[in-house]
Amino acid sequence: MKYTRDPIMSPSQKVLDWLIDTVKSCHPHLAVDLGTGAGTSAETISRGSNLTITIENDKKFLLPENTEKVISIYAPLRPIDKGRLWYDKFVLSSFFKGLAKEIDFLWIDGPMRRYGREEALIFFKEYLKDGARVFLHDAQTEFRVAQEWQRQYQGQVIDLKVIRIGREDEGVVSFKFKNKKFLNPCFAEQVSIINNM
Ligand SMILES: C[S@@+](CC[C@H](N)C(=O)[O-])C[C@H]1O[C@@H](n2cnc3c(N)ncnc32)[C@H](O)[C@@H]1O
Repeated sequence: MKYTRDPIMSPSQKVLDWLIDTVKSCHPHLAVDLGTGAGTSAETISRGSNLTITIENDKKFLLPENTEKVISIYAPLRPIDKGRLWYDKFVLSSFFKGLAKEIDFLWIDGPMRRYGREEALIFFKEYLKDGARVFLHDAQTEFRVAQEWQRQYQGQVIDLKVIRIGREDEGVVSFKFKNKKFLNPCFAEQVSIINNM
């Protein structure tokens, strides 16, 4: 399976190169890719994980077929509040039923930024393994989302990093999600910036 990146909507080749190194070093059992789009992130993640589930709201971007390594799910967008939209939670809950604390790698690059990505951790936190790695593409705009999660889930969003890759305006926010809360709230305050240009 090989997909061609969209020059505007897909992660840059440098980000995909970083992603393959990262996923290979984590070697997740179950990875989730939010925003299938052109399929390049799903394909990249699948090269280092046992199983990748990729979620898309637009039927035209569904992967042509499921394989042993990648499952493509259609979840249309539904209103949440204040004009924000997110994937249909009924569809996702039905699919992920029985998979509580099973996901160890979550890559967030969908839905399109204008719809909001704040719901991703709110929905997926119960499905994340203790210490799961979570990544948000588009660090410039999405860092505030991760900071809000850090505030909301104090002691659970830990090791928060902004990783700058390639162009100055492109990067990835990375953190680990703890299901068991740390007693020391200072953990929640830490943010490091890593240059990987
Ligand atoms: C940032 S894109 C996701 C990119 C995707 N992970 C990839 O590897 O191409 C977020 C969403 O934009 C939408 N989209 C609209 N036009 C697109 C295009 N030409 N290529 C990819 N995604 C597109 C899709 O619904 C997609 O889920």
